[in-house]
Amino acid sequence: MRNRRMSIGAASVVVVGVDSKGMGLIRECLGTEAVLPTHSTPFLEAAQVVRKTRPNVVVMGFDQDFDGAVRLGPSLKREVPNLHMVAISERTDPERIRAAMRAGYQEYVVLPEDGDLLRRAVHEAAHGGEGGGETGTVVAMVGSKGGCGVTMLTVNLAAELSPVYRVCVADMDFSMGDAAAFLDLQPSSNIYDLLRGLDRLDERVLAGNVAVHPSKVHVLAQPTELMDLEEIRGEDTLAILRSAAEAYQYLLVDCGGRIDESTHMVTTVADVVILVTTPGVVAVKNAWRRLQLMLRLGIEKDQIRLVVNQWDKNAELTRADIENNLGLPVAATIAADFPTCQRAVNLGRLLRDVDKRSPTLRDISAAVALITERAERVETETSKASFWGLFKS
Ligand SMILES: Nc1ncnc2c1ncn2[C@@H]1O[C@H](COP(=O)(O)OP(=O)(O)O)[C@@H](O)[C@H]1O
Ligand SMILES: [Mg+2]
Repeated sequence: MRNRRMSIGAASVVVVGVDSKGMGLIRECLGTEAVLPTHSTPFLEAAQVVRKTRPNVVVMGFDQDFDGAVRLGPSLKREVPNLHMVAISERTDPERIRAAMRAGYQEYVVLPEDGDLLRRAVHEAAHGGEGGGETGTVVAMVGSKGGCGVTMLTVNLAAELSPVYRVCVADMDFSMGDAAAFLDLQPSSNIYDLLRGLDRLDERVLAGNVAVHPSKVHVLAQPTELMDLEEIRGEDTLAILRSAAEAYQYLLVDCGGRIDESTHMVTTVADVVILVTTPGVVAVKNAWRRLQLMLRLGIEKDQIRLVVNQWDKNAELTRADIENNLGLPVAATIAADFPTCQRAVNLGRLLRDVDKRSPTLRDISAAVALITERAERVETETSKASFWGLFKS
């Protein structure tokens, strides 16, 4: 997960750009958890104070001067690279949260509601966190539109990783996600249960809310009933991602074709974004829109891997067409194999449990390197010219 670092030792806290009321709230919330300064440091002096005192945590007020607070983030981080930075505000605002994340703030806390989060952040900075400070790789799996095969790729990529790594699939495609169904799991709880108990969320709670597949892939399922999706705030998504990234080495988040606050947050903090499209005109056009949106959100091109699924030689568009249209290299092509994929979906099985020799599976296996090695491009069966020769005549 990006922008997430911890330090070990006693917590020292510097508070910047907060008025006396804010100082009162921070003091009340942290209690004995940290030794607090008597007053807040003005923006202009922040870099100097941080350089001199080298604190574990900076608590930055975001209400007095938002742009100033954002600008300070990277420069404070340069002063003390493992500084834990917490943004505090009186209100929640998705745009602001994302800007804070991009500037290197690990938490965005609304006081007094999220007091627990601030307390925990400071506690973890002091004690190195339960996971010893290591966090897993967060992979956002994003479709150009529904039906591109995001869930198919997510669960089967996860199953390729699970023999070696601790892997979790989080299903954030609330409109039509189905990761649990793809694995024939009947989860007894889901992400919504976590959302209701965020103040208690830790590794143990998380472990009690995931469904476990025999492949050792863990699944954080979506609610079975459609809920009021507007309720999910960016910072709640962040809290779930954060604890999952602490518990697992790889967290694959199925965002489907959905564009909402949760999926924005996932793509913002993801280490790698896999943008999945099919080689059709409409899908590629949507991929372009999605890409522009991600670039506007500040996601860098080199974090994005474009994967073309359901690839076959009669595709509407060629690889070159797609690359020219999107201005992005195709990182992997995944062969179409409709009978096997359909069977896998109908039976709720992994591709490898339906047909080990499926070309889709072989290409997915090769595509794992996009995640584990951050490869920019992988050679799959379908990207080799000779491959189609097998099907000729
Ligand atoms: N490589 C593939 N070849 C053939 N069919 C595929 C492939 N990938 C996915 N599918 C099929 O496409 C349909 C949609 O896949 P799904 O993973 O549910 O898409 P999404 O999650 O993007 O909505 C499923 O019926 C699945 O069997
Ligand atoms: Mg899906």
